[in-house]
Amino acid sequence: MKRWHYLLGIPVVLILVLQLVPNELPTVENNNPGDLIGSGIVSDEVANLLKTACYDCHSNEPSYPWYAHVAPSSWLVAKDVREARQELNFSNWEDYDMLDQLGKLDDIYSEVEEGKMPLGIYTIMHPSAKLSEEQKQAIVSWAEEAMDIIAESEDE
Ligand code: HEC
Repeated sequence: MKRWHYLLGIPVVLILVLQLVPNELPTVENNNPGDLIGSGIVSDEVANLLKTACYDCHSNEPSYPWYAHVAPSSWLVAKDVREARQELNFSNWEDYDMLDQLGKLDDIYSEVEEGKMPLGIYTIMHPSAKLSEEQKQAIVSWAEEAMDIIAESEDE
């Protein structure tokens, strides 16, 4: 073998070295008593859409794909889930006070209507999470109704 052929091994070694960098994926907890879906303000249809398109980032129960366990993609997944949970965690829905819930529903409304969520990088890897126009509409209308229900329940 010619000497320079050894250079071909460099990328492999680099990738192996990357695996040594510590990276902790956010923890998974499947028992979430305060979850949005248990709270009774979401239909089965919308619950399914949120589960498919949002829960891998915005809940305590992500199902991590293989590339979440391999650097460098694992760093990106960990960061996205951490930041997504900070903004909105459906698993902790009942812990938000009324104003927070209204604010988050309003954000869901605009993010989905404008096509900003789910993140594009996610739908490339999870085509089934890509929302059709009807599916977007279903989430947007639900967010609007849920805001009314929550605001009215406070008036009583
Ligand atoms: C691949 C991970 C991922 C998925 C899937 C995902 N999100 Fe997000 N989301 C994020 C991250 C990261 C942030 C925080 C950074 C940002 O705003 O871009 C965020 C932020 C948000 C915010 C707050 C935006 C703001 O700035 O006010 C809302 C609301 C939201 N997402 C809703 C959703 C909904 C609804 C879905 C499903 C239809 C969804 N997201 C799917 C990663 C994700």
